[in-house]
Amino acid sequence: MCGIVAYIGEKQAYPILLEGLKRLEYRGYDSAGISVINSSLQTVKKKGKVSELESVAILSDLHGNIGIGHTRWATHGKPDDLNAHPHLSGDGSLSLVHNGIIENYATIKQALIDRGHTFKSETDTEVLIHLIEEYKKTDALSLEHALTKALTKVVGAYAIVVIDKNNPNELIAARKSSPLVLGIGDNEFFIASDASPIIQYTKKVVYLNDEEIVIAKNDGTFTIKNIHNEIQEPDIKELDLKIDQLEKGGYDHFMLKEIFEQPTTIAESMRGRLNANEGWVSLGGFDQFQNRIHHAKRIIFVACGTSWHSALIAEYLIEDLARIPVEVEYASEFRYRNPILSEDDLVIAISQSGETADTLAALEIAKERGALLYGIVNVVGSSIARITDCGSYIHAGPEIGVASTKAFTSQLVVLILMALKLGNKRGTISDAKFRELLYGLESVPAKVQEILAQSDKIKYIAQEIKDRQNALYLGRGINFPVALEGALKLKEISYIHAEGYPAAEMKHGPIALIDENMPVFVIATNASAHEKIASNIQEVKARKGLVIAIVSEGDTTISKIADYTFEIPYIEEQLTPLLSVIPLQLLSYYISVMRGCNVDQPRNLAKSVTVE
Ligand code: G6P
Repeated sequence: MCGIVAYIGEKQAYPILLEGLKRLEYRGYDSAGISVINSSLQTVKKKGKVSELESVAILSDLHGNIGIGHTRWATHGKPDDLNAHPHLSGDGSLSLVHNGIIENYATIKQALIDRGHTFKSETDTEVLIHLIEEYKKTDALSLEHALTKALTKVVGAYAIVVIDKNNPNELIAARKSSPLVLGIGDNEFFIASDASPIIQYTKKVVYLNDEEIVIAKNDGTFTIKNIHNEIQEPDIKELDLKIDQLEKGGYDHFMLKEIFEQPTTIAESMRGRLNANEGWVSLGGFDQFQNRIHHAKRIIFVACGTSWHSALIAEYLIEDLARIPVEVEYASEFRYRNPILSEDDLVIAISQSGETADTLAALEIAKERGALLYGIVNVVGSSIARITDCGSYIHAGPEIGVASTKAFTSQLVVLILMALKLGNKRGTISDAKFRELLYGLESVPAKVQEILAQSDKIKYIAQEIKDRQNALYLGRGINFPVALEGALKLKEISYIHAEGYPAAEMKHGPIALIDENMPVFVIATNASAHEKIASNIQEVKARKGLVIAIVSEGDTTISKIADYTFEIPYIEEQLTPLLSVIPLQLLSYYISVMRGCNVDQPRNLAKSVTVE
């Protein structure tokens, strides 16, 4: 979603801001803009891509050593030049970029209109900069104090950066429920909504906490305060991120790179966490609270999107292997339905970004009600990683493609390890089964590599499917969530309408859709339900549907009835989602490319959904 980048220092701000905005493109956006201060405040804004902003920016004088930039994902008001950020105060002296939503903006706007303010855009953000201006003028406050006062009046979420043309020596930023990182260079500072625009200049960062304000000056000093004006000690961290992790590395798209990285990222998620020969699993996050975790009466997962699909797979695994009741909740529903929780509950949030607004809010409710919070997160230092009592990073490295791929498989690795560790401790799985699954896990990277080596077969199938308007994905048991994930991947990047269903549910509705135009993807790798899946395929074929089946190697039954089959290497059934999802990811990728869609930045979608 929206991205922020800001700079103050000795260098020219504009090239840094422009490069930063390009790094933030992956978050999803529909307009962009930049303000810099030279002899006056210069602002350029444009609907569309950063490259379009660049082509109009060339006509302006954007030299200067302080500036702010923004990519906007429209919430209040359509995506156009006027609604794009930065937004200016009424007198044109202050410029603001904002991520988040000011929920009470309408009331504030009316009060400001009554006091003579006029507005150019439909945004909540313009209201905020006018409110700051109002306090600055009527209460004769400094920018910092006017901003602090304004922030105590607004309800909602914000990450903001403000500059003042009359004081080009400082920039001021603040956050609440929307991430913001300060990068500390030599006599220069960077502020951004994630570390990607900062990493090429410095590794020293401070992740701001909620209701903190940073004042960064061009004399090389900075101060962090809370909203009550109390100075806070900065917690300076070293970024563990390399610039090549943010590049395509020779691939046509980030999504393809990330799919092909999976043998490595899956291995990274396991590194140091298991040993099949010695028969152990270690998850650092468990240690501090192991008693509460092992004796949890119930586990509740909260997540959104692909991370929610991982949670559904975890439900099968934990109930099967550790015999603990599991509930899987959409974070957006959980947070608003007065959930029943106690100290005996373990609430696990799964999130690639660690910033999804609904997941964060669900955790806040669970915390208030005394549950233990565990985070399974990719982005180090993210809000979810910090609010949870304990957790495990998935170590998949930066995921830039909007459609999640490598984060999904790495989440599964951690969840499988969790189920195994719990099952082993609680004595609910045999030692033999425990070791068999550990050996199975160790074999996954090489088996994923084998699947990727057959990408041409998937390309061939993609060619056959690319012009269809609809698709159905069916799976049973632990592969039902893989069907959901396959359908999600297809619809988000190729805009083909797709639905995932438990195979047996097909008879309760979706079968009515099946004719010769309906491709049906069937994940048919479950040994325990093989005959039942074969029957479901027969039912589709009897109605002339086109069947594409993912089968385990050596399967001779299904290949006789399906139109196309794709074999994955044999693996224990509990681990099959780690392999069965790979051809579905590739298939969506190739179909999207063949249809000429924007694979990495699909329309209307955001990588990190920081508003509810
Ligand atoms: C967005 C992304 C999805 C992601 C979901 C949850 O919708 O486009 O790829 O699965 O958010 O995000 P999270 O970062 O919490 O896993």
